[in-house]
Amino acid sequence: MQRGQFSSRLTFVLAASGSAVGLGNIWGFPTKAAENGGGAFLLMYLFLAFLLAYPALMAELTLGRYSRSNMVSTLDSIASGWLQKRLGQLTGFIGVLTATMILCFYSIIAGWMIAHTLASIAQTLQLFKIAEWLVTFSLFRNISFSTAFIGLTLLVISAGVERGIETWSKRLMPCLILLMLGLIVYVLLQPGAERGLKMFIVPDFRQLADPQLIVSALGQAFFSLSLGVGTMLIYGSYIRSDEDLPVAGALVTFSDTGVAVLAGMLIIPALFAAQQLGVDIYAETGRLISGPSLIFQALPALFEEMGEGGKLVAIAFFTLMSIAALTSSISMLEVPVSWAIETQNVTRLKASITVGVFTVLVSGVISYKFTSIFEIIVEVTTEWAQPILSLMLCLFCGWLMHRNRLLQELKQGVPDLESSLFWLIWPTYVKIFCPLLIVIILVQSFLPLS
Ligand code: TRP
Repeated sequence: MQRGQFSSRLTFVLAASGSAVGLGNIWGFPTKAAENGGGAFLLMYLFLAFLLAYPALMAELTLGRYSRSNMVSTLDSIASGWLQKRLGQLTGFIGVLTATMILCFYSIIAGWMIAHTLASIAQTLQLFKIAEWLVTFSLFRNISFSTAFIGLTLLVISAGVERGIETWSKRLMPCLILLMLGLIVYVLLQPGAERGLKMFIVPDFRQLADPQLIVSALGQAFFSLSLGVGTMLIYGSYIRSDEDLPVAGALVTFSDTGVAVLAGMLIIPALFAAQQLGVDIYAETGRLISGPSLIFQALPALFEEMGEGGKLVAIAFFTLMSIAALTSSISMLEVPVSWAIETQNVTRLKASITVGVFTVLVSGVISYKFTSIFEIIVEVTTEWAQPILSLMLCLFCGWLMHRNRLLQELKQGVPDLESSLFWLIWPTYVKIFCPLLIVIILVQSFLPLS
C-alpha cells in the first residue's frame, strides 16, 4: 500500500508542532505555571522538556521511521519471541486506545472553545440570548460542540497526510503564532500586566526543590509533546528517510516549548490585568484560579472591559484556542485511523468514519456523566497511561532495537552521526536514564506529596 509522506522538513515540523501545541500549551501550561510560582515552574519545565521529553520524542520518531507503520505493528516487528511480541502488541494497542480516549475528552474542551468563539461573534451581533446559551454549561451544548469538533477533525484526517494533515497544519500553525503575538502586545499594554510578566519570568529559586512542582512540570512536558501513545511515532513514520531526525525533533521541541512560553506571557499578565479591572483572580483556597475558571471567567471579563475592541480580541483568542486544539486532535485521530488502515485492511475513509463515530459516542457518554467520569478519564490517560507507555517505548527503542539498527536508521539523514554529540549520549540515555526518570515520576505520583 502507498503510504503518505510529509513533503519537506518544514511541513513535518509544522505538523508535529501542530500536534504538540494545543490546549496543553495555551491553557495547561500557563495555569500550572501560575499555580506553581511562575518563574520557577518555567525553569523546571524547560529543563525537563529538553532533558527527558526530547530524548523520548526521538525514540518515538526513530521507531516510527524505522518501521514505517503504526505503533502496534512497530512494536510487534522489532520484538522477537512470543512474549516480547505479545507485550509489544499489547503496549501498541493500549497506545491506540489511549490516543482515542484522549481525543474523547479533548473534544469536549475543544467544543467549549468553539462555543466561546461563536458566543463572542454573537455578542458583536447583539444576539445576547444565543451568546448566553453558548457560554452556559449544558449537556446539549457540550454534546453538540464536541461532535462538531470531532466532525472537523474527521474531515481533515479523511483527506490523508499530504492534503489533510500537511496542508492544514501549514495553514493553521502560522495563524496561531501571529494571533498570539498580537494578543501578547495588546495584553502587555494593559495596566497591571507587568506584575504578571514579572511573576512568570523571574524565578524564585527556593521553589525549585518542591516535589509537587517537579511532578507537575514533568507531566506537563509529556502531555505537551504528545508522547507515549504513538502520535509522534506515526508522524515519524511519514518523515522522509533522508531527513535529519535529531534536528527535526529538536525543532519540534523548541517550537512546542516556545509556544508554551508565549502562552505564559499572554495568560499570566492577562490574569493580573483582569485583577486590575476588579476580577477576582484568587480562588477561596488563596491560590490563583486555574482550569476552566481562568479561561472562561477571568479572561472574558478582561475582554469585556476592553470595550468594543475587546469583542474582537475575544473572537481572536477563542479562535486561536480552537485552531490549536484542531491541529492536536488531528494527530490523535491519526493514531487509531492509521492502525485500522494498516492492520484491519480498511480504506482511510471507512477507518476515519468508524473511529469518528466511536469517539462521538464515547465523548457523548463522558458529557452525560461529566461530573463523575471526566476527571477520571483525564487522570488515567494522561497521568498513568502516557508515562507508562512512554517508558515502554523507550525500553523497546533502547533495548530491542540494536544500536547498529538505530545507527543505520538515523545515519540516512545524518551521514556523520557517529561523531556527533547526539550519538554519544542519546542511545544509552534512552535505554537507561529515560526509563529510570519515568519510573521516578510514577513512583513520586503515587506517594502522597504534601
Ligand atoms: N500535545 C497536545 C497539547 O498540548 C495534545 C496532544 C496531541 C496529545 N496529541 C496527543 C496529548 C497525544 C497526549 C497524547 O494540547
